[in-house]
Amino acid sequence: MKVDVLLGLQWGDEGKGKIVDVLSPHYDMICRFQGGPNAGHTIECKGQKFILHTIPSGILNPNTLNIIGNGVIIDPFILQKEINMLAEKAGIDVVANLLISRRSHLILPTHRLMDAVQEASKGAGKIGSTLKGIGPAYTDRTARHGIRSGDVFTDNFKAKYEELRNRHLQIINTYNVDIKNITIDGFDFEAYEQQWFSSLEIFRKLKQIDAEFFIQEQLKANKRILAEGAQGTLLDVDFGAYPFVTSSNTIAAGVCTGLGIPPSSVGEVYGIAKAYCTRVGNGPFPTELLDETGDKLRKNGHEFGSTTGRPRRCGWLDLPALRYAIMLNGVTRLIITKTDVLNDFETIQVCHAYEWGSEIVNYLPYDYNNVKPLYRPHPGWNCSLDEIRHVDNFPVALSDYIRMIENETGVPVDMVSTGPDRNQIINLRA
Ligand code: GDP
Ligand code: IMO
Ligand code: MG
Repeated sequence: MKVDVLLGLQWGDEGKGKIVDVLSPHYDMICRFQGGPNAGHTIECKGQKFILHTIPSGILNPNTLNIIGNGVIIDPFILQKEINMLAEKAGIDVVANLLISRRSHLILPTHRLMDAVQEASKGAGKIGSTLKGIGPAYTDRTARHGIRSGDVFTDNFKAKYEELRNRHLQIINTYNVDIKNITIDGFDFEAYEQQWFSSLEIFRKLKQIDAEFFIQEQLKANKRILAEGAQGTLLDVDFGAYPFVTSSNTIAAGVCTGLGIPPSSVGEVYGIAKAYCTRVGNGPFPTELLDETGDKLRKNGHEFGSTTGRPRRCGWLDLPALRYAIMLNGVTRLIITKTDVLNDFETIQVCHAYEWGSEIVNYLPYDYNNVKPLYRPHPGWNCSLDEIRHVDNFPVALSDYIRMIENETGVPVDMVSTGPDRNQIINLRA
């Protein structure tokens, strides 16, 4: 058996949570391999809405085991809130269905302070991070100062914590800011730190494992495993528009380092893309629409960040960027989400190439801040997709739109999502 991978092909928020939830009955285990609570994965079912930040999106399926791999960074306070939310809303016993790699790293309260201070110091050049401490926590991991989940059971945990905390406070001091003026999730630093420590109580109850051994044993036992990506390919630390990226490898290659499996164990790669594009935070976005069409996409698609509530920047589908993402990930199956958001557009534009200086290019160049998108119009379908349950009933313009994406990318579209609910999904291969 191999590990299938599901990941975002744009700038995040493609609908990964929904699709993982839809696919989870076909898998024994769902594993997060990178990122942290910067992620916000939404699942809607039975009239309820769940937003997951750290816990894999298989958690709503009682028969699916969920694993947080070594490549993930965890804020125990945020995790505790998620555990409580799932218990209160749906009676889910997360402790029974979640395993954590001992090698995953912790996000400390001071990582969040540093994120806030570093972002503020950048002024207009700020990345627009989610302020969850992602950059500083991954920095410590790479710099070999980090604290791992397994450390919470050791005698010197407190000493390690204090050493790192003090190191952070020294750095923060150099920014000449008074930390009393910074709040973290509405708490001042000291109150947040206390909450963080209290959350370790529940964190210690979660089962920690050597996930690299566990996953490989499960593969040998023919268990079906899906790796759930967070963020999107164009936010990858290596291949996104640096520095306007996150701090992990969001692409399929990250599955190997983030779970401890060899490349030969990677199976299908499901790539998720919206029928248009969105982005939260700063950085280049060639097809962004700063006009009323962009506002309409935002309104129709409820495009506000699941983690931060910020309005998402909206624009047309960008094929050169999509082809780049497909190439980097070796995508074998495409899933197109949020088609319903385009229901009332007479004409839908699609960027098929860029003008880049004096050249026309059909790929995403290094410096894509300076490209001008070239569009091709597509007729809209101008009808609701609510009643459609089978591909044979697709409006012709939607079938053409999907075929155009397949032709332009060379990858078959397996599923089309027509609304946020678990049931609003059409399998094209059924
Ligand atoms: P993720 O981070 O990739 O899991 O995506 P988010 O949950 O951050 O954002 C996707 C948003 O779109 C959520 O509010 C979903 O409920 C919603 N959504 C997912 N698929 C569809 C769809 O096909 N149509 C509509 N209208 N909304 C969708
Ligand atoms: P999901 O998994 C959309 C963006 C932030 C910012 C940049 C860096 O829900 O798709 P960070 O906090 O990681 O240092 O922020 O990345 N970003 C996301 N945008 N969806 C996400 O996750 C994101 N996670 C981070 O807005 O621009
Ligand atoms: Mg999201």
